[in-house]
Amino acid sequence: MMIKQKVLDALNKQLNLELYSSYLYLSMAAHFESVNLSGFATWVRNQSAEEYQHAMKIFDFIHQVNGTVELAKIDTPKKSWSSPMELFQDIYDHEKSVTSSIYELVDISASQRDHAATTFLQWFVNEQVEEEATALNVLEKLKMLGDSKNSLFYLDKEMGKRK
Ligand code: FEO
Repeated sequence: MMIKQKVLDALNKQLNLELYSSYLYLSMAAHFESVNLSGFATWVRNQSAEEYQHAMKIFDFIHQVNGTVELAKIDTPKKSWSSPMELFQDIYDHEKSVTSSIYELVDISASQRDHAATTFLQWFVNEQVEEEATALNVLEKLKMLGDSKNSLFYLDKEMGKRK
């Protein structure tokens, strides 16, 4: 099977976005460590590892369809946030933009009649539903807590349980 150039270019672009996502979550982990919220740090660090796995799924698929992986420069992520709420707002916004990018990619593969890529991408469509829901859930909790330090420390403990 030989992949069409348009689909390949879009997949390589998505590969870069997933690597950037991994980098962004890692930057968030460094930030949380620096403000002693180690539970939140664990959570975003695990998310960073998941994003790397997303990138590798695309990496493997490109090879399966005899395409060439083109690694590009990864943007520098933001490195500090004024509150966990601001940070989770960023996560939610970021995941929404990733969803848009996946949808564009699906549109491109469908318009090129690349059924293999379109089917492969369904996993990402479903994953994004979960990613947005999870980010929104934490964001809503943080909004509920307001300025309560006790609740923040409690939530930090809970977040640290993520495997
Ligand atoms: Fe791989 Fe969070 O999208």
